[in-house]
Amino acid sequence: MRIDKLLGNLGYGTRSEIKKFCKQGMILVNGAETKRSDTHVDPEKDTIYFNGKEVIYREFIYLMLNKPSGYVSATFDNFDETVLDLIDEEYLAFEPFPVGRLDKDTEGLLVLTNDGKLAHRVLSPKKHIMKKYYAQVDIDINKEHISAFEKGVDIGEGYITKTATLEVLGKEKDEEGNEFTEVYVSISEGKFHQVKRMFHAIGGEVLYLKRVSMGGLGLDPDLELGQYRELSKEEIESMEEK
Ligand code: URA
Repeated sequence: MRIDKLLGNLGYGTRSEIKKFCKQGMILVNGAETKRSDTHVDPEKDTIYFNGKEVIYREFIYLMLNKPSGYVSATFDNFDETVLDLIDEEYLAFEPFPVGRLDKDTEGLLVLTNDGKLAHRVLSPKKHIMKKYYAQVDIDINKEHISAFEKGVDIGEGYITKTATLEVLGKEKDEEGNEFTEVYVSISEGKFHQVKRMFHAIGGEVLYLKRVSMGGLGLDPDLELGQYRELSKEEIESMEEK
């Protein structure tokens, strides 16, 4: 791979900027200054230094974001801010995209990566990877609701959802004294507005929704809303656990 391409991919600058850096002697390959930006390097074998710091080459990045409400899960939007507006330039250079979508008003776990194959595997309905949500709903949840979610509910257009689990955590009151129920709901699919439509099907409305896990990957409780961090190798693998 050409050194200007490699450094460009990692966000070190444009092709012409990297040409300049080479001329200025800022780039070392295996200890020697590289004056030409079209020099070929093997990222697996060669040691590259940029401005005195070793360059760590990698093809893919994997980020866990605690998505706040108000951002759309897309790489571009004409009207709203997107989740990419929360990500720093050093990661944007890898051109990450969100693995699946959360609604604009949904919070919680969103993985961003440039690894299309992993994203495809995690989202494939055939893989049955569970996505778990914490929700606040405006109805009491009874045994019939729980078994309806288990059997599948009609969310419109004749679509019956696959088996889902519903777990009641308890009841709370908002500032105006209105009661709501706190639940966990786990689904293996990702239809448009699925959780909201499932509660709608049993006569309720979702007041607040937050994704807490995908497969075996749980949202890091130390991440504030809008914060993100890279995933470890084990965490990346855990996303594909059933
Ligand atoms: N289900 C929804 O209704 N909204 C989301 O954001 C995710 C799942």
